[in-house]
Amino acid sequence: MAVFMMVLGLFFLVICSCTALLRWNEVRYRKKGLPRGTMGWPIFGETTEFLRQGPNFMKNRRGRYGSFFKSHILGCPTIVSMDPELNRYILMNEAKGLVPGYPQSMLDILGKCNIAAVHGSTHKHMRGALLALISPTMIRDQLLPKIDDFMRTHLNSWDNRVIDIHQKTKEMALLSSLKQIAGLESSSMAQQFMPEFFKLVLGTLSLPINLPGTNYRRGLQARKNLVGMLRQLIQERRASKESHHDMLGGLIKIDDNKYKLTDDEIIDQIITIMYSGYETVSTTSMMAIKYLHDHPKVLEELRKEHLEIRGRKRLEDPIEWNDLKSLRFTRAVIVEASRLATIVNGVLRKTTEDMELNGFVIPKGWRIYVYTREINYDPFLYPDPLVFNPWRWLDKSLESQSYFFIFGGGTRMCPGKELGIAEISTFLHYFVTRYRWEEVGGDKLMRFPRVEAPNGLHVRVSSC
Ligand code: HEM
Repeated sequence: MAVFMMVLGLFFLVICSCTALLRWNEVRYRKKGLPRGTMGWPIFGETTEFLRQGPNFMKNRRGRYGSFFKSHILGCPTIVSMDPELNRYILMNEAKGLVPGYPQSMLDILGKCNIAAVHGSTHKHMRGALLALISPTMIRDQLLPKIDDFMRTHLNSWDNRVIDIHQKTKEMALLSSLKQIAGLESSSMAQQFMPEFFKLVLGTLSLPINLPGTNYRRGLQARKNLVGMLRQLIQERRASKESHHDMLGGLIKIDDNKYKLTDDEIIDQIITIMYSGYETVSTTSMMAIKYLHDHPKVLEELRKEHLEIRGRKRLEDPIEWNDLKSLRFTRAVIVEASRLATIVNGVLRKTTEDMELNGFVIPKGWRIYVYTREINYDPFLYPDPLVFNPWRWLDKSLESQSYFFIFGGGTRMCPGKELGIAEISTFLHYFVTRYRWEEVGGDKLMRFPRVEAPNGLHVRVSSC
């Protein structure tokens, strides 16, 4: 009996302490003018619920508090905005103090000149330097030939093999950008680069705890190693005096370079290019392959488009700019795969001062999660939203609608959109014109917080 009473007492003590802690945390954040919502536990906030419940966490909160509410997730007091109009306003108004609010681990590892870490005139300068490298003219004249050359080789010898598409698209995205940056895709440097880059990516997604064995510590070390390799490469380039027609060549060209960068800025710019295009391009490519496999009619239409192009060419002829522009259905497949899989759930901003937003006063330093995922499944915007229907994108005006956030919006709208689409289109070109494939089966796909196949997505490939 005494033991029972003790357990009961302990139970009540735990319940009371938990309630008191939750209550205290709510009161702590009860400032005048904040939107509705709950803040969860001290320090941890509602992160566990958010990660466990996934998209339902946001949907439940929206049901309770409307599409603009407060929470405490991923270590910060956060305002979640799910309203398309408000989202656009937030993304358009960086100058009013709504700057990128990415986690500290990401900023530390990607570098202080990384585009997400800079604002105002420095952002303009870094973005200008980047746009000069990946403009439509550059894609046409310099990048597309490199991408074509890379994809042909990357997709060689897949016949009669079981291929892990998840792995292959990751390698594809990284090696293709290494080729565009400095022609490194098949060098020994690429082999040293790859594992370090993968550690860097993991580090950016970790808690910023700098202890031995943590992903954060490994990420910082990987950054150090990558910076060392890139610095050496830049020095070699400068010493050789040879001109190179690649991204690094464009960045270190001194004459007539309006967007001249220091070596540290060049290094962070290169890491930015690799990082931003890596997971987005690889995951979209993997999901396109997945949806094409599951929708034979779509695959048939896509293959027709690519065979028409191949029919006009010799085997060794590359995909050119005009071919790329004619791939309307392929573009639609890529955008539809991005929509249905939701490759990017949203983007993060933070306030640089107390500011009024949507009739509320948001304190300085709070994070704003511009959460765009649910827009992708809005039946009023995309009829039958859970159906993979690339035909809906043949009306190209859909891409310029104010609720289209697949590539972000406002002043930080993705500058690599067309480059990414060019890479995925070329990858699909060589895949569907050379091969047929069947899923081996049994692979798990995770949809949240990131789209990934934790044990790979295996397909059995055979020649067409
Ligand atoms: C095709 C897949 C891609 C998707 C879905 C995608 C998506 C996005 C999104 C949603 C943003 C907005 C981030 C924000 O507002 O904070 C963004 C920004 C950015 N993207 Fe992409 N992206 C893709 C490909 C690429 C590629 C291939 C590059 C390579 C150059 C790239 C470079 C960037 C950069 C540098 C930014 C930051 C721009 C700035 O802060 O001014 N992206 N991307």
